[in-house]
Amino acid sequence: MDKYLIRNTLPTDHQRVISVMPDWWDGRDLRSMLPKVFFVHFCSNSFVVEASDQLIGFLVGFMSQTDENVGYIHFAGVHPQFRKEGIGRKLYNQFFKQCELKNRTIIRACTSPVNKLSITFHQRMGFIIEAGDGEIDGIPVTSNYLEINNPKVLFRREI
Ligand SMILES: CC(C)(COP(=O)(O)OP(=O)(O)OC[C@H]1O[C@@H](n2cnc3c(N)ncnc32)[C@H](O)[C@@H]1OP(=O)(O)O)[C@@H](O)C(=O)NCCC(=O)NCCS
Repeated sequence: MDKYLIRNTLPTDHQRVISVMPDWWDGRDLRSMLPKVFFVHFCSNSFVVEASDQLIGFLVGFMSQTDENVGYIHFAGVHPQFRKEGIGRKLYNQFFKQCELKNRTIIRACTSPVNKLSITFHQRMGFIIEAGDGEIDGIPVTSNYLEINNPKVLFRREI
């Protein structure tokens, strides 16, 4: 693991991240949910992992402005060829550390019910799925969390 460098994001990382997202998300195009402003004003809570300058992982997170106990992970991804090596865990642990420093004891994140890999990953990372207002494939979902009629699986972890 230590062969990989983890550092805070820079504005110049936006283009690199955007260019790999469709591939890393199996062709799903989620790029519009990650505008450059996240790479300008959220850098102290966002990270990239690199191996010899190659981008192999990223996490974009922030401290909730609404709930002073909450840190929120907006997006995280790992290069398909570097998965299951602990890089996702490393990125999440880095964010947890940042939350501890800021006295945030609750971490939240969400994913689409179609993203079974993300659901498994979050459960392995100690998140519980919050009760919602519906169920898809047996998984509790919340219908209108980020958009009307766009069900999301909501995760919560205490640190
Ligand atoms: C989800 C994702 C970030 C995980 O990254 P990763 O580096 O492969 O994860 P790690 O190697 O750190 O694994 C962490 C834990 O999740 C588990 N896990 C990871 N991928 C898994 C898989 N495909 N199936 C089962 N468990 C898996 C690992 O076994 C590990 O648990 P353990 O330590 O208890 O064994 C990566 O698969 C990815 O980028 N997916 C596409 C983008 C995406 O869906 N992001 C989700 C958040 S927006």
